[in-house]
Amino acid sequence: MKKVILDVDTGIDDALGILLAVKSGQLDIQAITTVCGNVSLEQATLNTCKILDLLDRPDIPVYQGAEAPLIRKGLHEHHIHGEDGIGGALSKVIPPVSATEGFAPDIIIDTIMTHPGEVTLICTGPLTNLALALLKCPEMTDRLDQVIFMGGVIHGCGNITPVAEYNMYADPEAARIVFHAGFKQLVQVGLDVTRKALLTAEHIARLTDPAIRDYVAESTAAYTKRYEERNGVKACALHDPLAVGVALDSGLVETTLLYVDVETSSRLCDGQTVGDVQNRLNHSSNMDVCEQVNSEAFLELFIQVLNKE
Ligand code: BDR
Ligand code: CA
Repeated sequence: MKKVILDVDTGIDDALGILLAVKSGQLDIQAITTVCGNVSLEQATLNTCKILDLLDRPDIPVYQGAEAPLIRKGLHEHHIHGEDGIGGALSKVIPPVSATEGFAPDIIIDTIMTHPGEVTLICTGPLTNLALALLKCPEMTDRLDQVIFMGGVIHGCGNITPVAEYNMYADPEAARIVFHAGFKQLVQVGLDVTRKALLTAEHIARLTDPAIRDYVAESTAAYTKRYEERNGVKACALHDPLAVGVALDSGLVETTLLYVDVETSSRLCDGQTVGDVQNRLNHSSNMDVCEQVNSEAFLELFIQVLNKE
């Protein structure tokens, strides 16, 4: 089994990504680390523990990381993810587990250094925890098997500003550190592909476990409405679950090696990920950019995995 760490800001779709990762049975989840993003660090941690309780997996350790982006103020997305970050689902649940002692960036470093070449890091929030880990231990870049992150967009428009995707916009300085760290394999799962991974009411109706189906339906209801208002499609974009999907089956996406940088000092364009498609800057590529996705196969995988006993 592939050893992974999930770095999350649990949010509606992060939670669905955790469900997919845990239920797949194909990933050896070493830790789930939380970061300030969609909601506060504390709320992201609580939501993560609620999901692990729903899955009856209190054994997976959760560690808290950065309380704020590297230099900016935290920017939450309650208008998208609801006051609690998971659309009001599981509101009465008091999870029996809470975060384990330890700072997420240190846990990331320790896990990677203990299992050199074996760990894949899947980041579905702002990249603050990974950037802090890199600042403390730059040599970890060679020891990580792969980093898969949900964030940015190369060919389309943004979802928080006209040009920026939320995770990049929330902490562009952290993204910049990650982009230039020199990882063996850095995979960008951006809006180019995640906007095509759309969960509809018909998909949800096919979920067979009543507890999971009710959770997914409730947590995505308001999000789906807001997505429809903005995009004209009644669906929930599975941004973060697709990053997990790529870890489970890289054949779901087609990638292009590109040099990508992120804007950190612009009035209008902070957080924009700029892909040097025509190699005008003459830099070596630094990431695999997902450009195409087999959405049907991914949605099928998502449903099959969530339907596992
Ligand atoms: C990303 O931002 C958050 O709203 C989601 O959880 C996802 O990680 C999509 O832009
Ligand atoms: Ca997220």
